[in-house]
Amino acid sequence: MTREITTHSAEETVAFGRTLAEALAPPKIVLLRGDLGAGKTTLVKGIAAGFQAAAEEDVTSPTFTLVHEYRSPNVNLYHIDLYRVDTPRELETLGIDDLIAENSLLLIEWGEKFPRFERNCDVQIVIERVGENDRRIRIASRCMESLSLTGKRTYFFREFWPDIATHVLHRHP
Ligand SMILES: Nc1ncnc2c1ncn2[C@@H]1O[C@H](COP(=O)(O)OP(=O)(O)OP(=O)(O)O)[C@@H](O)[C@H]1O
Ligand SMILES: [Mg+2]
Repeated sequence: MTREITTHSAEETVAFGRTLAEALAPPKIVLLRGDLGAGKTTLVKGIAAGFQAAAEEDVTSPTFTLVHEYRSPNVNLYHIDLYRVDTPRELETLGIDDLIAENSLLLIEWGEKFPRFERNCDVQIVIERVGENDRRIRIASRCMESLSLTGKRTYFFREFWPDIATHVLHRHP
């Protein structure tokens, strides 16, 4: 199942991220796909704020640190950027598998570089630049295999999407 929405500013993407949080109950592995500057990190600001795990301005790109962690009572949110990680060996040293737990939400930028994440994730969010400030955000409920690394089958979004779309469009007509 795929859903999509177009936002017209970074603020709208953050707002959309906030509403997404309610549909991303952990445990989940989420691949954030899109070119440099597409808006992946911007979306994470909203998701982290939606979980009350961080203020949006405190969420910055893990470009060099590779993994940022934000916690709230409901989630351990890991924002991971694999842009600078090139080999499976380098990936191994990050110990990402050790982050997977009942309370974990892994939001991974550039995860599609590694087939294992593409195969074993719960949700893919694809962001495309369609204009200076316009971004098309598509959400696919399944990755290539129906069982994720977390071992749970996902039935993502069926109930959540209509509310989210209405909410965002309402606030940002
Ligand atoms: N509708 C929009 N949604 C998101 N970002 C937008 C939008 N319009 C403009 N922008 C701008 O685009 C940029 C997105 O940057 P961001 O760091 O989120 O991208 P990214 O996909 O994480 O890139 P990278 O792969 O380099 O980490 C920001 O400067 C943001 O202000
Ligand atoms: Mg980024």
